[in-house]
Amino acid sequence: MMVSMSGLRVFTPPALAGLLLLGAVVTIFPTRARGADTEAALIAWGHTIAMQGNGLPGNTACAECHRINGGGMPSVGIPRIAGQTETYIYREIRGVQKGTRYSPYMDGIVQNLSRRDIRAVALYYSTVRTPKLHDPAEYDPSLRELGRRIAHRGLWDRNIPACILCHGQDGRGIPPNFPYIAGQSTTYLTGQLISFAVVRRKDDPEGLMRGIASKLTHQEIKAVAQYFASLDPPVYGKIPEKNRPDRLRLIPEKETPTP
Ligand code: HEC
Ligand code: HEC
Repeated sequence: MMVSMSGLRVFTPPALAGLLLLGAVVTIFPTRARGADTEAALIAWGHTIAMQGNGLPGNTACAECHRINGGGMPSVGIPRIAGQTETYIYREIRGVQKGTRYSPYMDGIVQNLSRRDIRAVALYYSTVRTPKLHDPAEYDPSLRELGRRIAHRGLWDRNIPACILCHGQDGRGIPPNFPYIAGQSTTYLTGQLISFAVVRRKDDPEGLMRGIASKLTHQEIKAVAQYFASLDPPVYGKIPEKNRPDRLRLIPEKETPTP
């Protein structure tokens, strides 16, 4: 496999290449062929699912929790998903369906989504652009330096690499496989790090995050979570070269689903 040079393994593990390949196959052969699936048609269908679900039992509108703009709800730790990549969103929802991603909230909701539905809603949210929402979590300035050090330099004496090696400059993500973590809420980031540490969430390729999170103390988790929460998410959701202006959609905040 082209990226399996062992020196680069940590950053381009074969598992990720496999995932990429899988993504490409799914992309070319959607499970339910419905004539010409143009990108615009898929985005429109994804928007419908986000607003009102796909019509099958149990399928709730994503917007009820993630908002139609994908900004989430920082106060209760519902993540921002606007501008995460299609690949990442697709993988997370499949993870919930397969049980590798622990998610008591989404469990029932995503079971009835077909691969095409998931692709559509992933594509929709990957193109949405939305500003950062206010995070009401308490901020402890005395932890800032520690959070910043873990993020940018890591704690090499304990084999903890710098977060930005995989999550990109200032935590803005490295498309398509490494999610942005900048601008997520403190509550969400803390929760996910603990979830990886206690191996409830086990959808990370090659256990990359489980290995790291399990080495962090509670204090360090708090520090690094609040540090990334204090930063801004990527401006257009994706890093620039992926970010063709014609794919960006600015949806007015008032466009919320009717209950
Ligand atoms: C009842 C609330 C609720 C609904 C409805 C919901 N989600 Fe979620 N979602 C959550 C919560 C809470 C999390 C994070 C914690 C977890 O994994 O349980 C999450 C996590 C996610 C993630 C992972 C984000 C990340 O950064 O890793 C994605 C992607 C996602 N949801 C997409 C969707 C989509 C698409 C829909 C609609 C089909 C949907 N969700 C419906 C509550 C919800
Ligand atoms: C070797 C690469 C690597 C390093 C270094 C790394 N991560 Fe990750 N991280 C990942 C991958 C890959 C994922 C996505 C896992 C998945 O698909 O479920 C991830 C996911 C996450 C998530 C969940 C994101 C979401 O939206 O749900 C958080 C939070 C996170 N990492 C925090 C950190 C922090 C904090 C550090 C530094 C202490 C760090 N990561 C270092 C590879 C890495």
